[in-house]
Amino acid sequence: SWFHVQLLAQVDSTNRYLMQESARGVAHGTCVAAHLQTAGRGRRGRSWLSQLGGSLTFSVLWRFQCGAAGLSGLSLVVGLALVRALHAMGLTTVQLKWPNDLLVLHQGHWHKLGGILIELQGDMEGPSAAVIGIGLNLEIASELTAQIDQPVLGLNALSAQPINPNVLLGTCLSQLALHLSQFAESGFTHFQAAWTRYHAFHQQPVNLLLANGQTVPGQVLGVAEEGSLLVETAHGQQRFNAGEISVRSA
Ligand code: BTN
Repeated sequence: SWFHVQLLAQVDSTNRYLMQESARGVAHGTCVAAHLQTAGRGRRGRSWLSQLGGSLTFSVLWRFQCGAAGLSGLSLVVGLALVRALHAMGLTTVQLKWPNDLLVLHQGHWHKLGGILIELQGDMEGPSAAVIGIGLNLEIASELTAQIDQPVLGLNALSAQPINPNVLLGTCLSQLALHLSQFAESGFTHFQAAWTRYHAFHQQPVNLLLANGQTVPGQVLGVAEEGSLLVETAHGQQRFNAGEISVRSA
Protein backbone atom coordinates (compact mmCIF):
# COMPACT_ATOMS: atom_id res chain seq x y z
CA SER A 1 0.00 0.00 0.00
CA TRP A 2 1.08 3.58 -0.62
CA PHE A 3 2.32 6.10 1.89
CA HIS A 4 1.25 9.73 1.61
CA VAL A 5 4.60 11.46 1.92
CA GLN A 6 4.80 15.11 2.86
CA LEU A 7 8.18 16.83 2.92
CA LEU A 8 8.58 19.97 5.04
CA ALA A 9 11.54 22.35 4.79
CA GLN A 10 11.40 23.02 8.52
CA VAL A 11 9.21 22.03 11.46
CA ASP A 12 9.63 21.97 15.24
CA SER A 13 9.10 18.19 15.40
CA THR A 14 7.61 15.83 12.82
CA ASN A 15 6.14 13.83 15.72
CA ARG A 16 4.41 16.84 17.25
CA TYR A 17 3.15 17.91 13.82
CA LEU A 18 1.82 14.47 12.92
CA MET A 19 0.18 13.96 16.35
CA GLN A 20 -1.77 17.13 15.65
CA GLU A 21 -2.64 16.06 12.08
CA SER A 22 -3.67 12.64 13.37
CA ALA A 23 -6.10 14.17 15.88
CA ARG A 24 -7.61 16.01 12.89
CA GLY A 25 -8.17 12.66 11.15
CA VAL A 26 -5.32 12.55 8.62
CA ALA A 27 -5.08 9.20 6.77
CA HIS A 28 -3.39 6.01 7.90
CA GLY A 29 -0.01 5.78 6.17
CA THR A 30 0.75 9.50 6.24
CA CYS A 31 4.48 10.18 6.42
CA VAL A 32 5.95 13.56 7.27
CA ALA A 33 9.65 14.12 6.68
CA ALA A 34 11.55 17.33 7.44
CA HIS A 35 14.81 18.74 6.17
CA LEU A 36 15.25 20.48 9.51
CA GLN A 37 13.68 20.01 12.94
CA THR A 38 14.08 22.85 15.39
CA ALA A 39 12.73 21.02 18.47
CA GLY A 40 13.14 17.31 17.77
CA ARG A 41 11.90 15.07 20.55
CA GLY A 42 13.75 12.05 21.93
CA ARG A 43 12.68 9.33 24.32
CA ARG A 44 12.44 10.00 28.07
CA GLY A 45 11.73 13.68 27.56
CA ARG A 46 15.10 14.30 25.95
CA SER A 47 15.63 16.33 22.80
CA TRP A 48 16.82 15.02 19.45
CA LEU A 49 19.45 17.30 17.98
CA SER A 50 20.15 17.41 14.27
CA GLN A 51 21.57 19.74 11.69
CA LEU A 52 20.36 20.59 8.20
CA GLY A 53 21.28 17.69 5.92
CA GLY A 54 22.87 15.74 8.75
CA SER A 55 20.03 13.33 9.37
CA LEU A 56 16.87 11.80 7.99
CA THR A 57 13.98 12.73 10.28
CA PHE A 58 10.46 11.52 9.63
CA SER A 59 7.28 10.27 11.28
CA VAL A 60 4.70 7.78 10.09
CA LEU A 61 1.07 7.52 11.17
CA TRP A 62 -0.20 3.97 11.57
CA ARG A 63 -3.76 3.30 12.71
CA PHE A 64 -4.58 0.07 14.56
CA GLN A 65 -7.90 -1.61 15.18
CA CYS A 66 -6.74 -2.67 18.64
CA GLY A 67 -6.23 -0.38 21.63
CA ALA A 68 -2.88 0.74 23.02
CA ALA A 69 -2.95 -2.33 25.32
CA GLY A 70 -2.40 -4.52 22.24
CA LEU A 71 0.64 -2.65 20.99
CA SER A 72 3.38 -3.98 23.27
CA GLY A 73 6.43 -4.78 21.19
CA LEU A 74 5.54 -2.22 18.52
CA SER A 75 8.69 -0.18 19.11
CA LEU A 76 10.86 -3.30 18.82
CA VAL A 77 9.21 -4.22 15.53
CA VAL A 78 9.91 -0.74 14.18
CA GLY A 79 13.58 -1.18 15.14
CA LEU A 80 13.66 -4.52 13.34
CA ALA A 81 12.14 -2.97 10.19
CA LEU A 82 14.84 -0.26 10.22
CA VAL A 83 17.73 -2.62 10.84
CA ARG A 84 16.54 -4.73 7.91
CA ALA A 85 16.22 -1.63 5.72
CA LEU A 86 19.80 -0.65 6.58
CA HIS A 87 21.10 -4.17 5.94
CA ALA A 88 19.30 -4.14 2.57
CA MET A 89 21.27 -0.97 1.76
CA GLY A 90 24.53 -2.76 2.48
CA LEU A 91 24.99 -1.45 6.03
CA THR A 92 25.18 -4.94 7.46
CA THR A 93 26.95 -4.12 10.74
CA VAL A 94 23.98 -2.23 12.23
CA GLN A 95 22.44 -3.84 15.32
CA LEU A 96 19.65 -3.17 17.80
CA LYS A 97 19.76 -2.06 21.40
CA TRP A 98 16.66 -2.83 23.42
CA PRO A 99 14.11 -1.42 23.17
CA ASN A 100 14.81 0.33 19.88
CA ASP A 101 18.09 2.15 19.32
CA LEU A 102 20.21 1.47 16.25
CA LEU A 103 23.83 0.84 17.17
CA VAL A 104 27.10 -0.05 15.56
CA LEU A 105 30.36 -1.23 17.09
CA HIS A 106 32.96 1.22 15.80
CA GLN A 107 36.59 1.37 16.96
CA GLY A 108 35.75 -0.82 19.93
CA HIS A 109 32.83 1.29 21.19
CA TRP A 110 29.09 1.19 20.62
CA HIS A 111 27.80 4.23 18.77
CA LYS A 112 24.18 5.29 18.29
CA LEU A 113 23.13 5.71 14.65
CA GLY A 114 19.50 6.53 15.19
CA GLY A 115 16.49 6.33 17.43
CA ILE A 116 12.74 5.83 17.47
CA LEU A 117 10.07 7.70 19.40
CA ILE A 118 6.52 6.33 19.29
CA GLU A 119 3.64 8.41 20.58
CA LEU A 120 0.17 6.90 20.89
CA GLN A 121 -3.32 8.30 20.53
CA GLY A 122 -6.53 6.63 21.66
CA ASP A 123 -7.34 4.64 24.80
CA MET A 124 -6.22 1.20 25.98
CA GLU A 125 -9.25 -0.61 24.48
CA GLY A 126 -10.60 1.27 21.44
CA PRO A 127 -8.85 1.83 18.10
CA SER A 128 -5.51 3.57 18.43
CA ALA A 129 -3.07 5.51 16.29
CA ALA A 130 0.70 5.42 16.56
CA VAL A 131 2.93 8.26 15.45
CA ILE A 132 6.22 6.52 14.75
CA GLY A 133 9.08 9.01 14.73
CA ILE A 134 12.45 8.02 13.31
CA GLY A 135 15.74 9.89 13.34
CA LEU A 136 18.71 8.45 11.45
CA ASN A 137 22.10 10.17 11.60
CA LEU A 138 23.80 10.56 8.25
CA GLU A 139 26.67 12.87 9.13
CA ILE A 140 27.47 14.13 12.63
CA ALA A 141 28.92 17.63 12.82
CA SER A 142 31.59 17.98 15.51
CA GLU A 143 29.66 20.84 17.22
CA LEU A 144 26.83 18.38 17.72
CA THR A 145 28.98 15.58 19.18
CA ALA A 146 29.95 17.89 22.04
CA GLN A 147 26.27 18.36 22.97
CA ILE A 148 25.34 14.68 22.97
CA ASP A 149 26.06 12.59 26.08
CA GLN A 150 26.85 9.31 24.29
CA PRO A 151 28.97 8.18 21.32
CA VAL A 152 27.10 8.82 18.06
CA LEU A 153 27.92 8.08 14.45
CA GLY A 154 26.46 8.88 11.04
CA LEU A 155 25.47 6.16 8.58
CA ASN A 156 27.78 7.71 5.98
CA ALA A 157 30.73 6.54 8.08
CA LEU A 158 29.66 2.95 7.32
CA SER A 159 29.19 3.45 3.61
CA ALA A 160 31.62 3.85 0.70
CA GLN A 161 29.32 6.43 -0.96
CA PRO A 162 27.21 9.07 0.80
CA ILE A 163 23.76 7.64 1.45
CA ASN A 164 20.95 9.01 -0.71
CA PRO A 165 18.23 10.11 1.75
CA ASN A 166 15.46 9.44 -0.83
CA VAL A 167 16.57 5.84 -1.19
CA LEU A 168 16.97 5.50 2.57
CA LEU A 169 13.46 6.86 3.21
CA GLY A 170 11.91 4.62 0.54
CA THR A 171 13.68 1.53 1.87
CA CYS A 172 12.64 2.29 5.45
CA LEU A 173 9.01 2.89 4.43
CA SER A 174 8.75 -0.34 2.47
CA GLN A 175 10.16 -2.37 5.39
CA LEU A 176 7.89 -0.51 7.82
CA ALA A 177 4.81 -1.35 5.73
CA LEU A 178 5.71 -5.06 5.72
CA HIS A 179 6.54 -5.21 9.41
CA LEU A 180 3.63 -3.09 10.68
CA SER A 181 1.01 -5.05 8.69
CA GLN A 182 2.42 -8.30 10.04
CA PHE A 183 2.56 -6.88 13.58
CA ALA A 184 -1.13 -5.90 13.38
CA GLU A 185 -1.90 -9.53 12.44
CA SER A 186 0.30 -11.47 14.83
CA GLY A 187 1.93 -9.18 17.39
CA PHE A 188 5.54 -9.25 18.53
CA THR A 189 5.68 -13.06 19.01
CA HIS A 190 6.13 -13.46 15.25
CA PHE A 191 9.30 -11.28 15.37
CA GLN A 192 10.86 -12.47 18.63
CA ALA A 193 13.47 -14.78 17.07
CA ALA A 194 14.41 -12.36 14.26
CA TRP A 195 14.72 -9.46 16.70
CA THR A 196 17.10 -11.49 18.88
CA ARG A 197 19.41 -12.13 15.93
CA TYR A 198 20.10 -8.40 15.62
CA HIS A 199 20.31 -7.72 19.37
CA ALA A 200 23.71 -6.15 20.13
CA PHE A 201 23.71 -7.26 23.79
CA HIS A 202 22.15 -10.71 23.47
CA GLN A 203 23.58 -12.89 26.26
CA GLN A 204 26.06 -10.14 27.11
CA PRO A 205 26.89 -8.59 30.48
CA VAL A 206 25.18 -5.22 30.91
CA ASN A 207 24.53 -2.50 33.46
CA LEU A 208 20.91 -1.49 33.95
CA LEU A 209 20.17 2.10 34.89
CA LEU A 210 16.98 2.15 36.95
CA ALA A 211 14.61 5.11 37.15
CA ASN A 212 15.73 5.75 40.78
CA GLY A 213 19.32 6.29 39.62
CA GLN A 214 20.60 2.88 40.78
CA THR A 215 22.84 0.79 38.52
CA VAL A 216 22.33 -2.98 38.52
CA PRO A 217 24.69 -5.41 36.78
CA GLY A 218 23.21 -8.35 34.91
CA GLN A 219 23.36 -10.68 31.95
CA VAL A 220 20.87 -10.35 29.07
CA LEU A 221 18.86 -13.57 28.62
CA GLY A 222 16.74 -12.33 25.72
CA VAL A 223 13.46 -10.61 24.90
CA ALA A 224 10.11 -12.03 25.99
CA GLU A 225 7.24 -12.65 23.59
CA GLU A 226 5.59 -9.32 24.45
CA GLY A 227 8.87 -7.44 24.01
CA SER A 228 10.11 -7.00 27.58
CA LEU A 229 13.82 -7.55 28.35
CA LEU A 230 14.81 -10.61 30.38
CA VAL A 231 17.91 -10.16 32.53
CA GLU A 232 19.66 -12.40 35.04
CA THR A 233 20.63 -10.27 38.06
CA ALA A 234 21.76 -10.97 41.63
CA HIS A 235 18.01 -11.15 42.46
CA GLY A 236 17.39 -13.85 39.86
CA GLN A 237 15.63 -13.53 36.52
CA GLN A 238 13.98 -10.15 36.05
CA ARG A 239 11.74 -8.75 33.34
CA PHE A 240 11.71 -5.07 32.37
CA ASN A 241 9.36 -3.02 30.23
CA ALA A 242 10.56 -0.24 27.90
CA GLY A 243 10.82 2.98 29.88
CA GLU A 244 11.69 1.25 33.17
CA ILE A 245 15.42 0.93 32.56
CA SER A 246 18.14 2.00 30.23
CA VAL A 247 20.82 -0.52 29.21
CA ARG A 248 24.60 -0.05 28.89
CA SER A 249 27.12 -2.66 27.81
CA ALA A 250 29.25 -3.69 30.80
C1 BTN B 1 15.55 8.65 20.79
O1 BTN B 1 16.52 7.98 20.44
O2 BTN B 1 15.49 9.17 21.90
C2 BTN B 1 14.42 8.83 19.80
C3 BTN B 1 14.71 9.88 18.80
C4 BTN B 1 13.59 10.07 17.79
C5 BTN B 1 13.85 11.25 16.87
C6 BTN B 1 12.85 11.36 15.76
S1 BTN B 1 13.32 12.53 14.53
C7 BTN B 1 11.73 12.43 13.78
C8 BTN B 1 10.73 12.34 14.91
N1 BTN B 1 10.32 13.66 15.35
C9 BTN B 1 10.74 13.92 16.59
O3 BTN B 1 10.55 15.00 17.20
N2 BTN B 1 11.40 12.86 17.09
C10 BTN B 1 11.43 11.76 16.15
